[in-house]
Amino acid sequence: MDETEGPREIGDSTLDEMLMAARAILPRAYVPYSGFHVGAALLNEDGTIRPGVNIENASYPLSVCAERNAVAAMVASGQQKILAVAVATDAPVPTPPCGGCRQVLWEFGDADTPVVAEGADGVRTRWRLGELLPDAFGPDDLR
Ligand code: THU
Repeated sequence: MDETEGPREIGDSTLDEMLMAARAILPRAYVPYSGFHVGAALLNEDGTIRPGVNIENASYPLSVCAERNAVAAMVASGQQKILAVAVATDAPVPTPPCGGCRQVLWEFGDADTPVVAEGADGVRTRWRLGELLPDAFGPDDLR
């Protein structure tokens, strides 16, 4: 894909940059229980890349995924539109956002929002958010 394909397309170099940001922050994940580090990075309309990591808790269900922590940082920074999502882990197979995170990402993205995940050794998978959350319930359903 190249950068001139259309206004909705996010170029490969931007996705590379996002995955680098997600991987760079991976060691900061607080994962004493699962040991499963996740780094996420969101591309915003102002061109910033907003990272997040998963943060676990001794009360296990209170743990929060990297994607949702990135969304919290994004909203606190004043941005409310997600143009692309990147997720990095050290898993052998790239891991997509969990179901709950798909719903939270939907709130600020749309069916075309690219989601790219990278596992160990740089192996990547790419989706559109609409593939990961078909027939989503979202803000439009409340209008
Ligand atoms: N995790 C994420 O951070 N993002 C996901 O989309 C999947 C799961 C975290 C939650 C928990 O800290 C660890 O990975 C294992 O489930």
